[in-house]
Amino acid sequence: MELKNIGVIGAGAMGSGIAQVSAVAGYDVVLQDIYSDALDRAKDTIEKSLGKMVSKGKMAKTDMGIALDRIKFTSVLEEACKDADLVVEAVFEDLELKQKMFKELETLCKPEAILGSNTSALPITEIASVTNRGDKIIGIHFMNPVPLMKGVEIIRGQLTSDETTEIALGYVKRLGKEPVMAVDFAGFIVSRLLDVLLNETVKLVQEGNRPEDIDKAMELCAGHPMGPCKLLDLVGAEIAMHGMETMERDFGDRYKPHPLLKKRVLAGLLGRKTGRGFYEY
Ligand SMILES: NC(=O)c1ccc[n+]([C@@H]2O[C@H](COP(=O)([O-])OP(=O)(O)OC[C@H]3O[C@@H](n4cnc5c(N)ncnc54)[C@H](O)[C@@H]3O)[C@@H](O)[C@H]2O)c1
Repeated sequence: MELKNIGVIGAGAMGSGIAQVSAVAGYDVVLQDIYSDALDRAKDTIEKSLGKMVSKGKMAKTDMGIALDRIKFTSVLEEACKDADLVVEAVFEDLELKQKMFKELETLCKPEAILGSNTSALPITEIASVTNRGDKIIGIHFMNPVPLMKGVEIIRGQLTSDETTEIALGYVKRLGKEPVMAVDFAGFIVSRLLDVLLNETVKLVQEGNRPEDIDKAMELCAGHPMGPCKLLDLVGAEIAMHGMETMERDFGDRYKPHPLLKKRVLAGLLGRKTGRGFYEY
């Protein structure tokens, strides 16, 4: 199947990036969110991101206009589903919400449409289990920020077909990105390793280390391109917490999210999203 129309559900940090890279690659995109202010923010973010590419000489101004014209913004789910060959779901990291979403997607999308989830950590088989379309459901786990990060994890659920996998791989490659296969257990590869690091980082802060020292140590001594406090602020504290909770549920206590991580989420110290995490934005 040739993909032409992409529906993206959830216009937050990830959904807006997925819509952007899909439009730049020549797909027609409908980006949906239940909140109109999220859609306004997404439009603004995409314009700014493409504008930066133009000012750096990485994209022609006319191509920016063409890419923007390819994205429609809507709060109506049907709009994003009706013509979609592929839907990429990027709503909050909540199993019940994602399952509810996939049930709706199954009824609203054409039978041959592929349904992808950008979940960071929830097993794809579990999301797909509420539908009768397991063969067409697959994990397409983009990294943040989507326009800049080259790798995308591809996760096959228990029933995902070879054809669905091939189509998802083709989509990711057409975006100019590199797919990586990961096995369908909580956290896959990237979140399984990174969330543990981020959770441990919170412990270091509680023990009295300053975020800037932790970041400096990991950047200069371990060669990490971005220290873990900056990374947690970029990812969003709630994403790491939900990742740990999913892994704790499936693998046991050693993945328990640190109480301070939970407290920070409750206090809204999510990071860049809320303007405040370990640093101010
Ligand atoms: N932030 C990251 O670094 C990162 C990286 C990879 C994957 N992810 C995953 O991507 C997904 C989205 O994360 P994010 O950081 O973009 O979150 P976000 O909070 O920035 O965005 C989520 C968006 O989903 C929308 N939404 C919620 N319920 C909805 C519904 N019923 N219908 C339509 N829209 C709805 C919200 O309004 C919000 O705009 C999560 O599953 C997350 O785990 C996040």
